[in-house]
Parts: sequence; C-alpha cells; structure tokens
Amino acid sequence: MKTILTTSPGEAADFIRRGGIVAFPTETVYGLGANIFDERAIRKVFTAKQRPNDNPLIAHVGNVEQIKLLVSEITPNALKFIEAFFPAPLTLILPKAEKVPSAATANLQTVGVRMPKNDLALEFLRACETPIAAPSANLSGKPSSTTWQAVFEDLNGGIDCILQGATTAIGLESTVVDCTSSVPLILRTGAITLEQLQAIEPKTQIYNHSKNEPPKSPGLRHRHYSPHAKVVLINPKSKIQNPKSEAFIGLNKPCEKFELVKICASVEEYAHAFFDFFRECDRKNIKTIYCETVEETGIGLALMDRLKRAAVD
Ligand code: TXA
Ligand code: MG
Repeated sequence: MKTILTTSPGEAADFIRRGGIVAFPTETVYGLGANIFDERAIRKVFTAKQRPNDNPLIAHVGNVEQIKLLVSEITPNALKFIEAFFPAPLTLILPKAEKVPSAATANLQTVGVRMPKNDLALEFLRACETPIAAPSANLSGKPSSTTWQAVFEDLNGGIDCILQGATTAIGLESTVVDCTSSVPLILRTGAITLEQLQAIEPKTQIYNHSKNEPPKSPGLRHRHYSPHAKVVLINPKSKIQNPKSEAFIGLNKPCEKFELVKICASVEEYAHAFFDFFRECDRKNIKTIYCETVEETGIGLALMDRLKRAAVD
C-alpha cells in the first residue's frame, strides 16, 4: 500500500470516507483513525498497528454534539468534565450506544470519548463528519508518535494516509477517566491532572486495580512504550559507571559523559520530549537509556507512569 502524505485535512478525510485509515496529529500524540461505524476499517487499524484485539480504541469527536452518537448516557460527572475541559487531553469512559461496533471497544459495553485540542485534528474530524476511532499511531508496544516522521517510521506502507501536522504540544497520551459510576476513576494519568479533575468533582480517584480483578483499562495489561534500548530509571543523585552506548534524559545535567544527552528545562518539557528521545536512541543503537525520576505530582505523575512502564523488561 502506498501511504499518501498530505497537509490537507479535507484530503485526509476523503480516505476515511472511502473506508481507509489515516494518521492525524492531536495535542497529545498522533492517532491512527478509522470511521468508528465501519468495522472493516476498524479491523485495518488493529492489523496495521499489530494491536491485540482485546485493547479498545478511543472515539474522537470534532464537536460535543457527536458524543451523543456514541454513548447511551452522558453521566452527570461526565457532563461536568465535558463542560469544564473539552476540547482537552482527556478521554471519558461512558456506556456505549448500541450501534458502536464492539470491534472498536474490544467487546466492552463502554466507549472512551475525546475531543482533541488541536486545530488541525478538529478540522480533520469535522471534515470526516463521523466520530473517528483511533489508538496512538505507533506499532503496538513501541513509543507513541509525537511527530509525523515517527508515524512514517512505524506505519509507512501499512496505512492509507498521514495528515502532516506539527510536533504534538503535550507529547504523552490523554488522561483516561471512567465516568460510568458516581466515583470517577482515573485509569490512565495524563496532562489533565488528578488535581484539576478533583477541582471539578472532588470524589475523583486514581484507579488501583487489585490483583484479583481484570484491569478496567485493557491497555494496562499490555507492554508499552518500549524502545529497543533498555530503560533504567535513576534518581537525580545517582552516578553511572562507565557510560558507553548509553543515553540520559532528565532535568539535571549528569556528571558522566553519555553518548546522547537531553536536559529538559521543566517536567512539561521532559514529558514532551521523552518518546521522541527513545526513538532517536534506537536509531543511534543506544543500548541503555537512563531516565531521571521526577516528583509524582501534576504531569510528573503521568510521565513517571510512562517511564516505569517503559522500564519493565
Ligand atoms: O491521547 C490519546 O489518548 C491518544 C490520541 C491519539 O487521542 N490515543 C491513545 O490511544 O493513546 P491508545 O489506544 O494508545 O490508548 C487508549 C487507552 C488504552 O489504554 C485503552 O485500554 C483505554 O484507553 N481504553 C479505551 N477504551 C476504553 C474503555 N472503553 N474502557 C477502558 N479503557 C479504555
Ligand atoms: Mg497507545
């Protein structure tokens, strides 16, 4: 398959109308989209990404009205979050409408809905005139794509089109909140923080799944965000012996000489940079990436979640 590169949201939307699959930018990471009501197109997304089919996709909308096409109920907490945040790096899990194909939701009776805060994404979604099911546009298990070039690296030849936008503004995936019960549960941390959600609904909690029950978010079961290189978390004061073919990313300049170093001015910049840094390390055949740990508050919580999962062997 030839993958067409375009900067035109209208041209990209034409591929969706013809049953194709299209990578597009959002404010978090690039997504790989299909018409949510087109089961064949949904299956193409799973194939192109080599994604396990028990991992549901998020439904992206170009306006709040479209949410009604996807869900059987907008719960009171969801309504509060929509009013407070949308468009935002925030995905709300709600009971699904019957006509949303179970291929998109991995047989769950719920669906995640999100309206991205990115002009090109919104233009594309509006041009599609249908909600778009989209996981992150990377091969399953690999670091998410924050640039169209990263999408190209993973998916060229396997998808119909890449809508070329800028580097994504945030760089890690949306906060996922289960809004199906009266206590909103954060299933995946992201740029919309626990503190921000609690300011709207104080009962909001971070979901800690017990070993005896299946995780509420199937994605939590799967290996994630892994570069080929080994990822090792270190605290700001650690010393590394003899760094060779090794890289470092963090906030504080290390004393050692690494082959590749990225010093970030803030936790936000770190969150924005690390997926791309992982990919650069793989291109340079780095063997080990040392990642400095940060305080687990605000977006630091989401960054540490991704780093810890990348560090699992
Ligand atoms: O920022 C983002 O969310 C990006 C952009 C493209 O929007 N998308 C993204 O999709 O990260 P993906 O597929 O890589 O991650 C979706 C996560 C997975 O962990 C999945 O299990 C969870 O959301 N999820 C989706 N639908 C769900 C549902 N109905 N119930 C529970 N978890 C769900
Ligand atoms: Mg993903």
